[in-house]
Amino acid sequence: MQFTRGMSLYRRYTSGVLGSNSRGRTKDFITIYTPDVHVRILARALIMKKESQLSPRQKGDPNLSFIRATPEDVDAFLELEHTAAKSKTYSGTLDKDEALREFVENEVYLIYRDGQIVGSTELQMKSPEHAYLAGLVIHPDFRGQGIARKAALFRLGKLKGVKRIDLVTHPENLKIINLYQSLGFKIEKRIENYHGDGEPRLMLVKES
Ligand SMILES: CC(C)(COP(=O)(O)OP(=O)(O)OC[C@H]1O[C@@H](n2cnc3c(N)ncnc32)[C@H](O)[C@@H]1OP(=O)(O)O)[C@@H](O)C(=O)NCCC(=O)NCCS
Repeated sequence: MQFTRGMSLYRRYTSGVLGSNSRGRTKDFITIYTPDVHVRILARALIMKKESQLSPRQKGDPNLSFIRATPEDVDAFLELEHTAAKSKTYSGTLDKDEALREFVENEVYLIYRDGQIVGSTELQMKSPEHAYLAGLVIHPDFRGQGIARKAALFRLGKLKGVKRIDLVTHPENLKIINLYQSLGFKIEKRIENYHGDGEPRLMLVKES
């Protein structure tokens, strides 16, 4: 029995199929499937081999941290919002009072890499069963490095069991649409002039 389980594990790892947890790290299936120490050691070695084959985007980033913003962070937050403000695909927060209100109404996190602020991300609980993923901005110097994906995973990790999670984005914001579709979100509807800026938005939804 144990041998059969061991072989199926062996096939699983040698065929290159690896699961991943919410932090994007590879899962250790071994402790779940078998108590056999030899199989465990063999499979751990195989996991390490697979880990080393992952690209830096796929690996967890130990130098990235998400820290809840406080009123003292408001200028840094606004500076980030300004970097995205000129785009028609993003309606940022540019007013200090509005930003401070956002800090109270939403969970606003600053994203740090090696002690430097590289982005911000927010979520809002509309009800215990409904969460809204609000602003997500990555500083232009740090885009294309997988930080938005990690920010999405960070927020989703905090929302386990929440029945409806939604967000809005501009129909031309393909990065965001691709990112969230890859995480199981579906386009629910298009809303004209959503932010009052004359631009449409798509509502993306994940339901469980
Ligand atoms: C949109 C934004 C947050 C993306 O940040 P980023 O750190 O560059 O994004 P990532 O590197 O994590 O890439 C996220 C995903 O975008 C998609 N993507 C990346 N480049 C893309 C491109 N050129 N075209 C289409 N999709 C692309 C991919 O699905 C990618 O995920 P994957 O490569 O891991 O599969 C960033 O460009 C930004 O701050 N823009 C301005 C503000 C904004 O529009 N915010 C979103 C509001 S809803």
